[in-house]
Parts: sequence; structure tokens; C-alpha cells
Amino acid sequence: MFKIAKYPDPILRKTAKPISDFNDELKKMASDMAEVMYEDDGIGLAAPQVSKSLRLIVIGLGHGDFKTYVNPEITFFSKEKTKTDEGCLSLPKIFGDVIRPKKIHVKYYDLDGQVHKEKLKGIDSVILQHEVDHLNGILFIDRVEKINQGQELLDALKKQLDEQAK
Ligand code: CO
Repeated sequence: MFKIAKYPDPILRKTAKPISDFNDELKKMASDMAEVMYEDDGIGLAAPQVSKSLRLIVIGLGHGDFKTYVNPEITFFSKEKTKTDEGCLSLPKIFGDVIRPKKIHVKYYDLDGQVHKEKLKGIDSVILQHEVDHLNGILFIDRVEKINQGQELLDALKKQLDEQAK
């Protein structure tokens, strides 16, 4: 089973590579990611969070079901914004307010390589934006307006990162 990469693991800062082979290995990776996501009570997970630098996202649909986004591309962001108290499996016990566009349009591939276009709003839009950020090495703490929980823990992790850089 996959292990979740935790901040400040450098894998979380890499730009993930596009997927070109829609094979059984990819399907297996998606279902293994969904398993670890449900195990940790997550609602979305990006492949870099299981140390795979690939453009693959799974989103929980409840009861163990999941939806997969391969090579997702957000093609529209609304001007209207929404504020959400976000968290992340790679930053356990840390939560904060993030302001993001309220509505998005996304183009993506499914596990069989079929292209899809979708319009998302509300929490579905926020979750997908958070996960697409992971594919680009961006974490919610980069966008956070106000940390609501875990400020001390975050400070300690950032200090750990500074020490590593020395
Ligand atoms: Co996350």
C-alpha cells in the first residue's frame, strides 16, 4: 500500500509529468491511491502525494468509490471567488482559509484515455483546484490567507525545511 508523502518532502514541490500510457498499471495506481485516500479519510489525492510524480488525481465519491482525472487542465476560472477551510493529507493537523475561483471548467482524460470536459462549482471545484495545484508543486499553505489550526506545527515544519537547506 502507498504511503502518503508529508511536507516538507521535496516530491511535493516537483512539477508532475503527463501520463501517456493508459495501461493496467495506471488503473492499479489509481485504485491504490483511492485506497490510501479512504484509509486516511481524505476526499482527494494527487499522485505526487504517494511519491509518484505523475499528473493523476483521484477524488472520493463516498463508499469507496472514486473518480479519476488524468492530465487535468483547468481551462476556465470564474472571477467570483469562494473561501474554504482547507486541509491536506500531506500536511496533517494543519487547516486554513484559502480563497479560490468559485467555478472552473476542466478538461481531463479518464483511465481509458477518453477525453472529457466538465464544469465544477462549490466544493467540487475547490477540491479539484487543490489537487491540480499538487501536480504543479503548489500546496494550500502557499495560498492560505489565514491558518485556522496548526500554526505552531507549520512553523516547526518550515524550520525543518530551512535546516535542510543549510
Ligand atoms: Co493536498
